[in-house]
Amino acid sequence: MLKQLEELKLNARQELDAINNLKELESWRVRYLGKKSELTRVLRSLAILPLAERKAVGTSANEVKASLEDSLARKGQALREARVVAQTEEEHIDITLPGRPLPVGRLHPITQTLYEICDIFVAMGFQVVEGPEVEWDYYNFEALNIPKEHPARDTMSTLWVDFETDSGERPMLLRTHTTSMQLRVMERMPPPLRVVIPGKVYRYEASDATHTPMFHQIDGLAIDEGITMADLKGTLYEFARRFFGEDRKVRFRCDYFPFVEPGAEMAIECSVCGGKGCRLCGNTGWIEILGAGMTHPEVLQRAGLDPEVYSGFAFGMGIDRMPMLRYGIDDTRLFYSSDLRFLRQF
Ligand code: PHE
Repeated sequence: MLKQLEELKLNARQELDAINNLKELESWRVRYLGKKSELTRVLRSLAILPLAERKAVGTSANEVKASLEDSLARKGQALREARVVAQTEEEHIDITLPGRPLPVGRLHPITQTLYEICDIFVAMGFQVVEGPEVEWDYYNFEALNIPKEHPARDTMSTLWVDFETDSGERPMLLRTHTTSMQLRVMERMPPPLRVVIPGKVYRYEASDATHTPMFHQIDGLAIDEGITMADLKGTLYEFARRFFGEDRKVRFRCDYFPFVEPGAEMAIECSVCGGKGCRLCGNTGWIEILGAGMTHPEVLQRAGLDPEVYSGFAFGMGIDRMPMLRYGIDDTRLFYSSDLRFLRQF
């Protein structure tokens, strides 16, 4: 039996040496290591051998098996490698050439700006929330002290949704500012709260170099006990410092928005003329970047908050203008033209 095993091993080796493709290798495996192979038969029959013989034959058979399996693996590896080399030569593939670059996308300059602004406020303890672009008249206007016949509605040419209630009213619109989220936030989050609300807003306006019917805004809202205008100014100064740079001058002036009292606007020194006055800043040396103010007591009350206890500040700014100011882009429509020659620069 031992001699038989030795012979088997020799034969198998010799045959293996002659093999030069994977198909033959597989039939070799079946023949010598398969379920019906002689080796398997020997291993199965161990049980019926006398004890003395069983040990010697068992050891030898297992050795032969291990050695053949090892040879099989090595031969397989060698054949596979040889196949790759042959294929490469045949097809003239140069595997040392670098791969074709896959074009990877990038974030739109407005998205980049939006993320950057959010990051600045998040670092100051604000939370980012988002809300619906199709909004109720109530949240976009009424809740913000802009009732039906209020002239402030004229400044926000509204796109109304074609939906009528039974009483013939059209209460749905595309939000004209992200301020529409103010009351939604106050209704859901008890103070102290600090949020920024980025998103798309819509106005019924023709496109030109500075207008598109859809653009981006970010609003901020902070409500707590004892919030003052100093908090508002401090927060927005800090924002301007981080976004536009340490030494950019900032100016606050009075402004009017129905949902804040008092209201303000913030402007930064013109980046083009450095404050001397030019075409971009309309010869004023300043560029308005946001509206702000202390949350109106009636807005607080509408959210069930006692204005004697709570106060807050709010601000809102257009995002599209920021990269325009920063990179000197003179036409906002470029952002929405999907022109890769433009977009790839950012
Ligand atoms: N929503 C105002 C606008 O679109 C900006 C603003 C927001 C002003 C919050 C004051 C407070 O012009």
